[in-house]
Amino acid sequence: MPEAIIVHGGAWDIPADLHAEHVAGCRAAAEAGWAVLSRRGSALDAVEAAVRVMEEHPVFDAGFGSHLNRDAAVELDAGMMDGRTLMAGAVAAVKRVRDPISLARRVLHDSEHVFLVGEGAELFAQEVGMALCDPAELIVERERLAWERRRAAAPAAANSRAAFVARSSDTVGAAALDADGNLAVGNSTGGTFFKHPGRVGDTPIIGCGLYADNTLGAAACTGWGEQIMKTVLAKTTVDQIALLGNAATAANVAIAYFKLRIGGLGGIICLSPEGQVGWAHSTPHMAYAYRTAGMDAVVAALKSAA
Ligand code: GLY
Repeated sequence: MPEAIIVHGGAWDIPADLHAEHVAGCRAAAEAGWAVLSRRGSALDAVEAAVRVMEEHPVFDAGFGSHLNRDAAVELDAGMMDGRTLMAGAVAAVKRVRDPISLARRVLHDSEHVFLVGEGAELFAQEVGMALCDPAELIVERERLAWERRRAAAPAAANSRAAFVARSSDTVGAAALDADGNLAVGNSTGGTFFKHPGRVGDTPIIGCGLYADNTLGAAACTGWGEQIMKTVLAKTTVDQIALLGNAATAANVAIAYFKLRIGGLGGIICLSPEGQVGWAHSTPHMAYAYRTAGMDAVVAALKSAA
C-alpha cells in the first residue's frame, strides 16, 4: 500500500508577511508525519505527529499561538478519527492543554466516550496522566495585541463574513495513509478570533471538520466553522471520493457545493483509500503540504484563489 500524508495550515486571507511561515510550518508538519510513515508507523501516529508540529508553531491558530476569545482566553478544540475502526476522539473548549490533538487521541483510545469538553476534558487529561499547562503559556504577543486592537475598535459582529475573512482561521489538520492501508485524520484549532466563550466550530466534530473510513477516504476541513458544520463538509467530501473515485475531483466538487449552497468560506484536504491526495478552497488562500509514495520530498505551498 502506498503511504501518503497531506496537511493543511488554514484557509483565509493569510497576510503576505505570514505566507512563508505558513508554508514552512506545513512542510515541517508533513515531514514529521512522513517520517512516521516511512518507518512503518501507523496513520494515527503520523497524523498526531504532524498536527503537534503545527500546534507548537506560533504562526497557526492551534495550540501555542491561538486566537483569543472575547474574554482574552485561549480555548482549544481538536479531534481524531481512525479509518480502520471508525473510533474517534474529540475535545473542545480546553484551556490548559498545550497539544489538544494528543488529548483527542487519548479520548479515542482510552475513553468510553467520543467527545469531552471544558473542565471534564481537562479532568480526563489528568486521569490519563497528561500534564496540564498554565493557560498564559498558550498566548503569544501577536494575539494579545490583536485582541487589544479588537477590543478598542467599534463593536462589530465577531462571527460575520468580514470578520472571518479578516482574521480567521489557521486551523491545522492532517490526513494519512499507512503501509497497512489504514487511513486516519486529525484537526486542531483555537477557533475564530474574539469568539464567544464556549463557542465550538467544526474542527473537532466528526463528519463536519474531519472524517476517515478506510473504505471511503479521509478528509479534514478548515475555514468558517459555522458554515462547515451546516454542510457536514468532511463527510460530504469523503462520500464524493467514494462516488467519484478521485480525491482531487472530490475536493473540488465538495468546495463547489459548499460555495453554492451556503456561500462557504473554507478549505479541504483529503486522501483516497489508494493514497491519492486532493485539496480545494474558497478563501483567498490555503496553506498545505503533502507527500505520497514515489515523491522524493514534501511539496509545501500556499495556494491563492484562482
Ligand atoms: N474551522 C475552525 C473553526 O471555525 O473553529
